[in-house]
Amino acid sequence: MTIQLQGVRKVYPGRAPSLRGTKLEIQGPALWIRNALQAVRPTAATTPPVAALANCTLSVAPGEIFGILGPNGSGKTTLIKILAGLIRPTAGVGQVAGVPLAETRAIRRQVSYVSTTGWMGLEWALTAEENLHFFARLSGMPTALAKHRSDEALRALDLWADRAKSVSALSNGMRQRVIMARALLWHTPMVLLDEPLVGLDPHHRHALLQLIEGLARERGQTVVISDHDAEAVATLADRVLLLAQGQVAGYGTVTDLVERLRDRRIVDLITTGASAPDAVPPAAVSRVVRRPRPGPLGQVQWQVTVDARQSGALMEVIAWLERAGVTITELTERAPSLQDVLADEALSAAGQVTA
Ligand SMILES: Nc1ncnc2c1ncn2[C@@H]1O[C@H](COP(=O)(O)OP(=O)(O)O)[C@@H](O)[C@H]1O
Ligand SMILES: [Mg+2]
Repeated sequence: MTIQLQGVRKVYPGRAPSLRGTKLEIQGPALWIRNALQAVRPTAATTPPVAALANCTLSVAPGEIFGILGPNGSGKTTLIKILAGLIRPTAGVGQVAGVPLAETRAIRRQVSYVSTTGWMGLEWALTAEENLHFFARLSGMPTALAKHRSDEALRALDLWADRAKSVSALSNGMRQRVIMARALLWHTPMVLLDEPLVGLDPHHRHALLQLIEGLARERGQTVVISDHDAEAVATLADRVLLLAQGQVAGYGTVTDLVERLRDRRIVDLITTGASAPDAVPPAAVSRVVRRPRPGPLGQVQWQVTVDARQSGALMEVIAWLERAGVTITELTERAPSLQDVLADEALSAAGQVTA
């Protein structure tokens, strides 16, 4: 196994009590700085520790594409940072590419890591191409190979035409592709991609998905990819892990996980007219998600989960809405997708009732 985790947990320590309220003998500029710091950090009070990841056990085979899915704050980045040797778990054991989790330096040599959040660790004054050369040379790659690999990566990420632009002049999506290109320079056993699709246009999303597939299928690299949206990842991941508030809420193939909702059907509706029906939904309805649709028309978008075993369920939903004076303008009924399973788990974890 390329990755093996057993009972891995991560708790981020809380913030210690601030100096606020304590009597300090400081005056002049020092006092001014202290006040300024307090002004920009209004939450400088004690914060409790955060259990970001609880009891995570999983294994990933060599050459597998493994998805980590969950909403914001569910622990995806924490897990990937542990796999990348950037942070140590609070508890649990495991290994990445044969290296124990505690040996973070050795792990970092086995992985190419891509994070698209925050400061991306690029040299902003250098061009896209110079960045790739710089990081390749920094790792000790011979000049000729560095040139070859960076040319290859620039083309693979559709950055060839923009290679001479400085990073500061690139759009966010382009910068994200430079980060991805950098990860192609080394043919490490592991590629860890933290939300690489976020912020890309549909064309580049599709291209990146194909590229990622190639890394596993052609180069034989093991790929771990996270996203908060399950659909894209579901198309290429061999297996996925669902996270909800730091807890493992699902683990297996997409088919197996979707199978959990085999008794449900999803009815997607767009309506206009009256507000929400106050009447209780029909018994066949297990969940109703309702949100206004952006735009001037006052449309509302609904996602109604119904019991697939009750043959009249769809008609009951329509009658329920019409009784409330709602006009249905669009209606589609479909089988649940992985995103529906993820949403279901996230709501359950948040303590909301799903039947
Ligand atoms: N360095 C940190 N210190 C304290 N809490 C953190 C830190 N990093 C993440 N967290 C918290 O841990 C939880 C999981 O975060 P994260 O792993 O970034 O989730 P995701 O990537 O799924 O959005 C969140 O509640 C987040 O606020
Ligand atoms: Mg994250």
